[in-house]
Amino acid sequence: MTSNEIRNQFLNFFKSKGHKIVPSAPVIPYNDPTLLFTNAGMNQFKDIFLGKGTREYKRAADTQKCIRVSGKHNDLEEVGHDTYHHTFFEMLGNWSFGDYYKTEAITWAWELLTDIWNLPKERLWATVYRTDDEAFEIWREKTDINPAHILRFDEKDNFWEMGETGPCGPSSEIHINLSDDFNNPSFVNAGKAECIEIWNLVFIQYNKDKEGNLNDLPMKHVDTGMGFERICAVLQGKHSNYDTDIFQPLIEKIENLSGRSYNEEINKTPIRVIADHIRTLSFAIADGAAPGNEGRGYVLRRILRRAARYGRKLELNEPFLFKLVPVLIETLGDVFPEIKNNRANIEKIIKAEEEGFNATLDRGIALFENVSQKVLSTGKKIIDGESVFKLYDTFGFPVDLTKVMASEKGLKIDGNKFEELMTAQKERARKSTKEKIADANVIVDNFKDFDIAEIPPTEFVGYDYLETEAEVLSVKQKEGKTLLILNKSPFYVEAGGQVDDTGIIKIDGNNFEVLDLIKFDNRIIHLLNNPNNETINVGKKVLAIVDASRRWDVMRNHSATHFLHAAMREILGTHVRQAGSYVGPEKLRFDFSHYSKLSKEEIRDIEHLVNEKLLQNLELIHHRNIPFDEAKKMGALMFFGDKYGEKVNVVQFGDFTMEFCGGTHVKNSSQIGLFKIVSESSIASGVRRIEAVTGRGVEKYLDEKIDELRETETKLAELNEEKKKLGKQISELKLKEKLSKVNTLLENVIEVKGIKTFAGVVDASTMDELKSFGDELRNKIKSGVGLLIAKFEKKVGLVCVVSDDLITGKKLSAGTIVGKAAKVIGGGGGGRPHLATAGGKDTGKINELIKEFPQIVDSFL
Ligand code: ALA
Repeated sequence: MTSNEIRNQFLNFFKSKGHKIVPSAPVIPYNDPTLLFTNAGMNQFKDIFLGKGTREYKRAADTQKCIRVSGKHNDLEEVGHDTYHHTFFEMLGNWSFGDYYKTEAITWAWELLTDIWNLPKERLWATVYRTDDEAFEIWREKTDINPAHILRFDEKDNFWEMGETGPCGPSSEIHINLSDDFNNPSFVNAGKAECIEIWNLVFIQYNKDKEGNLNDLPMKHVDTGMGFERICAVLQGKHSNYDTDIFQPLIEKIENLSGRSYNEEINKTPIRVIADHIRTLSFAIADGAAPGNEGRGYVLRRILRRAARYGRKLELNEPFLFKLVPVLIETLGDVFPEIKNNRANIEKIIKAEEEGFNATLDRGIALFENVSQKVLSTGKKIIDGESVFKLYDTFGFPVDLTKVMASEKGLKIDGNKFEELMTAQKERARKSTKEKIADANVIVDNFKDFDIAEIPPTEFVGYDYLETEAEVLSVKQKEGKTLLILNKSPFYVEAGGQVDDTGIIKIDGNNFEVLDLIKFDNRIIHLLNNPNNETINVGKKVLAIVDASRRWDVMRNHSATHFLHAAMREILGTHVRQAGSYVGPEKLRFDFSHYSKLSKEEIRDIEHLVNEKLLQNLELIHHRNIPFDEAKKMGALMFFGDKYGEKVNVVQFGDFTMEFCGGTHVKNSSQIGLFKIVSESSIASGVRRIEAVTGRGVEKYLDEKIDELRETETKLAELNEEKKKLGKQISELKLKEKLSKVNTLLENVIEVKGIKTFAGVVDASTMDELKSFGDELRNKIKSGVGLLIAKFEKKVGLVCVVSDDLITGKKLSAGTIVGKAAKVIGGGGGGRPHLATAGGKDTGKINELIKEFPQIVDSFL
């Protein structure tokens, strides 16, 4: 039987028993801050068990994607070392919501296992909670299980809880003993691979609270979970989940990539770890998570690194995990299309993360070798906590990885010191900017003096008003400064990335500048500049005025942040999630998870989409103080890890964006004006940053850019001018150099009747240049007649010059001379007496002309 058939048979069986077949919930819980990952089939029904939600059906069944790597149910350490624990697995489940109870749950389970799937009854065992006589009797009376195979266990094995708090109750488990010793009760719950639990039937009847009390639920429910991979192994006659058709394709691919065989003992654990972890990574990414530095992202990063490191044991030193994704899609893509639909995303994120890890791993390994050598050489056994922390902090080595590496050398790590350093680091990170500023600030020194309990919370009116009349409820006067609490205030105190407001408090015509603000237990404390130590009395009526134009800049940027977020999720994908933000008057900054640099096109597309939406005049729909659950139902965007109270605000613009947000916003998108991204960069592995401007910020940005452009234009014009000048200088220099050749002509003088004649070829490329040669020659000869010849393309140019004395004394004229000379080369020309030009075609006659020139001159004497 294939795994697909087994899954379908389970679902069909419960369908025939009146169950609604529902889809698996995502592995990233949407609404449960007590959970990092979905860890059981019942998670999606938690609200029903707690009496807070209902469904249209009373019975349901499904296969649920589960990840057990953190919190109460964490199997990470076992994975790879045994054959039946996984970080990701499918849980087949059936549920009754206040409908059937123990009898049906037990008898149907027995029916499916023994009638439909024909499992050998003699190998099956049932366990019940030590005091659950009811379940015990049902097993004995209503099934044909061997009564000696019904055992009682205590809380550890037969009381199921979802987490530290939440729905829970006694359970009854079904185990199968595949060993030869299948009648031996000591095999059950002994952690033996031959005897494993296959199905857990939980009878949910309590809600456990924070104090650990078990409170009765309004109704009793059934919640069952069967390990899909385990039942497949049993039904396919395998002793290991990894031998089923669920894992075999992955294992074959790893064998191919590494050239290592799974049959060899030494390769078994690494190959299992990799085959297991790629499933967790792919499904988590498909459902919107990504490796990162915190919370869920950090868990995923650890899992990826664990897999990559085991890859190195197979000498898979280059990124390879991403190559397994297509194989996984081949096996499970039809059951869970989300992995098929997100294939490119999954591959890219995994590959980028592997590349990042490889780079640090090499450097970290070098550090580890160094440190461990030192420890070994001194005969010690423990690697100090500082080094472990450095490996973690600088080189990204998860502590369990360092532990494994240390144990390979027979060493341990100083885990306590490491934890201490971790706590200190977390503490440092936790101090928000606000606290840091306040640390050094008069507020913290003094606000403790306020007897806050006596003062009612400040009404924040800053969503609607930037100015308000208010009454002084409490005052603390310090040297030159005053701390003030009012009954209401329009001043926004830094939260959610949005900066403090600035402004003044007007009292009896005096303006007091608001220097800082702090929110303490819902009281807004204003720190005023009061250089003259004016007395301000309780009960005084004041005017609180926010700097409106600055606040408008901030609101534009804040609202634009929501548009940016929505646009990025549309253009880049829904894996994009906010990792931090700053919203100030001059710009907005948005940090988000994404695996690669944004292309120019992507940035343009995001800008276009945002601006298109802004122009649509989308109205702000501000849902204030609504119950958290209602906000969630509306589909408002929120992210795990954000802290939200019972009542929340949701900020919505048209149907484009809807987010949980406590900040202040424009009333309508067109008030934002234009949106422009000014930079995009990487700030950490997998985390990128966009800086952008809106409204007046865009104007300023454009002004600066246009100024820059104008400056560049001016510079360019100057450069062009300069270039022209230089060009001219160069050609003048070149000409000068050419002209200097005229000197050689002067040496070849032939006298005719006492008159010096000069003739020769010069290197002129235009008629004008040739004339310059003529001028040059004329300047140089004191007295004489000269003929300069230049060969142009297929043409001959002539210039003839006659010195002044010969024009007057001998009546010689360059014009007539050149005319006669031109005839020799088959052309004509003429001009003035001192200089004349001519042209001809007969390039072959140039030498002849040079020879004849003295005679030509002679003919005019
Ligand atoms: N919720 C029960 C479990 O996870 C069925 O084992």
